[in-house]
Amino acid sequence: MGLAGRLGDLGYNTQAMSEIHSSAPGKVILFGEHAVVYGRPAIAVPVVQVQATATVRADAPGSGLTLVARDLDVSVRLSDAPRDDPLAVIARLTLDRLGLAQPDASLTVHSTIPIASGMGSGAAVSTAVARALAAHLGHDLDPATVSALVYEVEKIHHGNPSGIDNTVVVYTLPVYFVQGRPAETFTIGAPLRLLIADTGIASPTRLAVGSVRQGWEQNPSQYEALFDWIANIVGRARAYLEEGMVGELGLLMDENHTLLGELGVSSLELDRLVRAARQAGALGAKLSGAGQGGNMIALVEAGVADTVARSLQEAGAVRVIQTVVE
Ligand code: PMV
Repeated sequence: MGLAGRLGDLGYNTQAMSEIHSSAPGKVILFGEHAVVYGRPAIAVPVVQVQATATVRADAPGSGLTLVARDLDVSVRLSDAPRDDPLAVIARLTLDRLGLAQPDASLTVHSTIPIASGMGSGAAVSTAVARALAAHLGHDLDPATVSALVYEVEKIHHGNPSGIDNTVVVYTLPVYFVQGRPAETFTIGAPLRLLIADTGIASPTRLAVGSVRQGWEQNPSQYEALFDWIANIVGRARAYLEEGMVGELGLLMDENHTLLGELGVSSLELDRLVRAARQAGALGAKLSGAGQGGNMIALVEAGVADTVARSLQEAGAVRVIQTVVE
């Protein structure tokens, strides 16, 4: 089988060999955010309705590698890119890993994943770039290698990331994650239909993580008890996910949201969206990710999805994405 066929089998999306496309999905955290920073488990799932893509095209000999992000109005040669530019970092890491010099090519990225919203856009862009560049050079990198490279770039975005984003995005499977342990991917027993609604309020992860840290320092026993309770929810959620017990998952989302409120990371806007989703017929709803703004998620049955999405918009959501996790 030729290279194009082999890459196709590996999930790479190829056209002519002079032009290579690769893509990676977004993600949301279903359960366990914040507690995961304190050694408890969390569960995240891929969101394939939004994608980052990278396209590599051969250029004239001697031109070197040019990185292009039209959405951000960026076009820079790899040799001129700042050391900490995330696109340049993943390109350099990939080339180093392969032990190859930069090709004469242009690498263009595009993403429909909302940025800075806890949906893993940075990890998805890096994943698409590493895969497309490797494929252009005639190599395929296994998922563990791509995940490790992407994690290095995540450190630039997030300082001390837990590693959940690169894992779920690279494997494109639900992930049960405990910091410092190899991530476990798993399959779910029944499809999950989720609405992901954005409060429109920017909330840097660092700040929300810092405010939980402050609370924990002031009241460690109360916070540890909340983290233990969340860990218990995550354990039950994994079993329900694997067994396809969707109704029970909704109740666990509600319970997890209450506990996140007690950790101080909900907000009036998040609570308003969570209430609106439940009143419109969602099986459960909670904030997702860092909180204090950002996104919430609602678990819905197909029949009420549009009604719940409308209610979320009426309650102030600036964007609602519908996704089905298979
Ligand atoms: O909003 P996100 O996807 O950056 O999620 C943050 C999740 C936290 O648990 C709050 C932090 C972390 O590093 O896991």
